[in-house]
Amino acid sequence: MRIVLLGCPGAGKGTQAKVLCARFGLTHVSTGDLFRTEMAKASPLGKRVGDYVKKGMLVPDDVVVELVAATLDAVPGGWLLDGFPRTLAQAQALDKYLVSNGGKIDLVLSLAMREEAVVARLAGRWSCPACGEVFNLQSRPPQQAGVCDKCGGKLLQREDDTEATVRRRLMVYEDLTRPLAAYYRSEGNFQEVDGGQSPEDVARAVTAVVDGVHA
Ligand code: AP5
Ligand code: MG
Repeated sequence: MRIVLLGCPGAGKGTQAKVLCARFGLTHVSTGDLFRTEMAKASPLGKRVGDYVKKGMLVPDDVVVELVAATLDAVPGGWLLDGFPRTLAQAQALDKYLVSNGGKIDLVLSLAMREEAVVARLAGRWSCPACGEVFNLQSRPPQQAGVCDKCGGKLLQREDDTEATVRRRLMVYEDLTRPLAAYYRSEGNFQEVDGGQSPEDVARAVTAVVDGVHA
């Protein structure tokens, strides 16, 4: 099964990607997580993309497409893409990649979210760089402030989660990524779920959609 998860910043893509990948045995490919890992290592790729990510701007298409193709080449089974594609050019590059690799997207699942609500959501996000666990002061607080429940690591806030940068990310999303819904809708494998519900209710809804496609 190959799934593309769409949604604005803070819509809950990473949260629901984990649920779906665990349940359906898929590999979670998050371009944002891949970039942040490279930035933490200060690798040549990390240095190249760091400024874009920190400022909430999109990394150039050619860099992202090359990274995703290399990542998917190494995935043995089904996958779920989180944060890619984000532009029409990336969507077309993914289609081309799938044609040459003999595959197709089974489902494009969009998490609909009122954009004003994500500013508050992202201000409350704390993540563990050691194990990748993500918390939220409102909806999923850690048991001890600043400490990861899972591995005891020190929780950090993302540099691009300041209000000004979140607003820029939302503008970039409106301009370049929202049009992808129409692109995929016309292909007939597009479904939308209300991402403004509780994390558990969103998880139930996305699982039901994927169950339906899987059947
Ligand atoms: P990326 O890391 O993909 O960021 P994003 O798309 O802005 O989305 P987020 O990760 O902020 O939100 P999410 O939807 O995953 O929400 P989450 O589940 O964490 O990209 C970062 C940057 O990398 C980009 O700005 C760009 O620079 C670059 N980049 C990446 N891909 C690229 C591409 N393809 N092309 C070019 N550049 C690219 O949830 C958010 C918070 O809310 C958490 O605290 C969570 O616990 C909480 N939460 C989740 N669900 C709920 C709920 N239902 N109710 C209440 N709280 C909830
Ligand atoms: Mg994410």
